[in-house]
Amino acid sequence: MFLKGVRKSFPLPGGAPLVAVNDVDLSLDAGTAVALTGPSGSGKSTLLHLIGAIEKCDEGVIEVAGDRVTGLSGRSLAAYRRRIGFVFQRFHLLPALTALDNVMAPLIPFRVEFDKAARARELLAMVGLADRAAALPSRLSGGQQQRVAIARALINQPVLLLADEPTGSLDSHTGTDIVDLLLRLRDEHGTTLIIATHDADIAARCDRAVHMRDGCLTSLD
Ligand SMILES: Nc1ncnc2c1ncn2[C@@H]1O[C@H](COP(=O)(O)OP(=O)(O)OP(=O)(O)O)[C@@H](O)[C@H]1O
Ligand SMILES: [Mg+2]
Repeated sequence: MFLKGVRKSFPLPGGAPLVAVNDVDLSLDAGTAVALTGPSGSGKSTLLHLIGAIEKCDEGVIEVAGDRVTGLSGRSLAAYRRRIGFVFQRFHLLPALTALDNVMAPLIPFRVEFDKAARARELLAMVGLADRAAALPSRLSGGQQQRVAIARALINQPVLLLADEPTGSLDSHTGTDIVDLLLRLRDEHGTTLIIATHDADIAARCDRAVHMRDGCLTSLD
């Protein structure tokens, strides 16, 4: 995948727009685990949202696994969003649904050729939560909720997993487990990982680290 000349700014009341992502170029081999580091406000989340097509670029090109993301709309955009996984900083689980139903939620509107519940159970087992399928999020710890969120992000077998500070609100031991899980996915399924993180230990465990500052990207290695 690659990004070329990607820019995103937000209007500010009564002033010049704020440039959140400024002319970013990045090229990644499939199956690479990349840490995206940088101070608060440097543009990490915005960049992930652009790659995940949650927000639209002002300028530039993003291509992921053969899809020219920046040119997609309508059905093809929806199809692209189903090919990638997004793990949010604060889990974003649906509170009224069980762990199993949360994992299945992205598939609910679609007709698929496999058993949705069976796949969701497999994923919960993979993240070590086979015995908590019936639990509501409020009955799960932070680390368990994040593992449900990761299982949910994997239900469509994404080629790319975008994780926005997936360990940010967890203690360091639980955070290490989550990173182990993400790296195992990369090893077993060749999923490309982009992990926004403030944690230098996590960055060191990835194949590559890229650093953002004031919307600009600098590669560290
Ligand atoms: N929807 C928005 N409207 C206006 N400004 C925004 C919006 N989203 C982000 N910004 C601004 O863009 C800049 C980059 O924000 P972003 O959330 O991408 O930073 P970040 O690196 O993820 O920070 P953190 O480490 O705190 O999560 C910030 O100055 C932020 O205030
Ligand atoms: Mg952020």
